[in-house]
Amino acid sequence: MERTLVLVKPDGVQRGLIGETIARLERRGLKLVGLKLMRMTPELSAKHYAEHQGKPFYKGLISFITSGPIVAMVWEGREAVTVVRSQMGATDPLKALPGTIRGDLALDIGMNVIHGSDSPARAQTEISIFFRPDELVEYERTGDRWIAE
Ligand code: RTP
Ligand code: MG
Repeated sequence: MERTLVLVKPDGVQRGLIGETIARLERRGLKLVGLKLMRMTPELSAKHYAEHQGKPFYKGLISFITSGPIVAMVWEGREAVTVVRSQMGATDPLKALPGTIRGDLALDIGMNVIHGSDSPARAQTEISIFFRPDELVEYERTGDRWIAE
């Protein structure tokens, strides 16, 4: 089953949106298989956002993402990467549709509450940056047969 990395960014933690973010993904039917509260180091953030190195917003992005605790999670489900990306909404919250996490809960592109991997390949890389294999938990949920056949 597909897995994806999700972060509640420092703004989401400071604004008390950890539960709201988890609740939305959980209610959708995705399964939580990894979870930790942590502070990203400059090294970790450079690895995570390597694709943006050199862009005008890079320095601000690194300083923001390391500015306070984050919640790192791995969510599992059919097409989990696409499902999370669509539920997050557009990068710029002003363009994100109502009903999405960013469209309902954010206003600024630099403080957009949530990160989600943008492809299955990136998801695998990002999960391995944040979690050791033994930190991910495999389990059955009795309700899963009511979510997908
Ligand atoms: P993320 O990686 O955080 O999930 O966000 P994303 O895929 O929707 O957007 P991405 O292009 O990967 O950009 C990463 C983060 O950098 C900030 N950003 N600022 N000022 C700008 O033009 C700009 N572009 C991107 C955003 O905070 C974005 O989430
Ligand atoms: Mg991205």
